[in-house]
Amino acid sequence: MTSKVQPEPAYHRLVAAQQPIHRAPRPKSGHTRRVEGVPKPKAIAERLQTSSSTEAELFTSGTRAKFLTPLEGRSAWYASDYQNPESFAYRLTDTDIAELEAAAAHVGDKDTKTITRDDFPLPTLGPKLEALRDDVVNGKGFHLIQGLPVWRYPVAKSVLLYWGMGLYWGHAVSQNAKGHLIGHVKDINLPGGHQDPVNRVYATHGAQPYHCDPADIVGLLCLKQAKSGGLSSWASSITAHNELLRRRPDLAEVMTKGWFLDRKNEVPPGKDPWFIVPPFSYHEGKLAIFYENGFYQSAERHEEVPKMTEQQKEAVATFDQIASSDELRLDWVLQPGDIQLLHNHQIVHTRSEYEDFEDPVERRHLLRIWVAPPNGWPLPDSFAERYGSTAIGERGGICVSGYAPRIALEAE
Ligand SMILES: [Fe+2]
Repeated sequence: MTSKVQPEPAYHRLVAAQQPIHRAPRPKSGHTRRVEGVPKPKAIAERLQTSSSTEAELFTSGTRAKFLTPLEGRSAWYASDYQNPESFAYRLTDTDIAELEAAAAHVGDKDTKTITRDDFPLPTLGPKLEALRDDVVNGKGFHLIQGLPVWRYPVAKSVLLYWGMGLYWGHAVSQNAKGHLIGHVKDINLPGGHQDPVNRVYATHGAQPYHCDPADIVGLLCLKQAKSGGLSSWASSITAHNELLRRRPDLAEVMTKGWFLDRKNEVPPGKDPWFIVPPFSYHEGKLAIFYENGFYQSAERHEEVPKMTEQQKEAVATFDQIASSDELRLDWVLQPGDIQLLHNHQIVHTRSEYEDFEDPVERRHLLRIWVAPPNGWPLPDSFAERYGSTAIGERGGICVSGYAPRIALEAE
């Protein structure tokens, strides 16, 4: 439960090295869990039709959304725009940290998951956290917050402080079938590790291919670094869309159609063990991107899901190549006290494989939060298949039958 006291980490650095394109292992057959009510092929075809970006979605409120046209604005950035870390990193001040500690003391013995902003007052830091969130949602789509002195705290206190900060970003949602509201990104030695397509890769030390998490915002707080590896990379998926459109418009169009994704056995009531969402959805003047490379591949383990077409495979390979290029990709070594905030509708992210320290106490450990902000983007109905609903401020996450949302203090 307790953490060893560590010195404050050195200032963080951008890593310019080219990263390989990460590919999920090919799924093994035989993992499909049959679920009552799996639709017949005709129903699947109908759902594919209705889940694709349609002409009707391209015209909303009398305004023609940009369709198969490069998008402009702050969400369409290149790596060269952010070579100076000060342009995207906010370092917590002594006053900020004092406010956080005072807020934690104010909570008393209340159950963490029930506390409100009134229980966790941040008179000057709160507005800053909201402003950072707004830049993530309506600006460049990412930000770093540095200097939370987690090396001073037991894990339980880091969880409380992080949860309290999250109250200023929005409503936190469950991240798995266990109902975790604070996720522990840590290798927990699952049988089969990252080679088993059913396992969520965050609970292993394997490389994660480019993807979006199924919530509006993902925040990652680093408690412990790996012995080696574990590099975080991200890119503007809007820029990747633009570049794909310039280079291979035929593949960009393929990505406006409904694609199958695996639920990895975390199946909400009444749903199939897979779902359909287009990678590119043009909706109410915005392009919302939903891309989970590993989940496309593992969906093929379900016999009723068609195999990926050659065009889809080429689209994934090309999109990944563009997103992982030096021109688009930013790299960051998350160090203790760093918080990475990403807006999933406009950013794709990845993590390289890592090696842990032998001592279990020193193993790589991040705390994750998935948040539905009150100022989220409008999303098309197809997102409800994964997000549960499209209601702004409530949607996202993974909810299965019988789960109880809760905050665990250790990985499990
Ligand atoms: Fe992720």
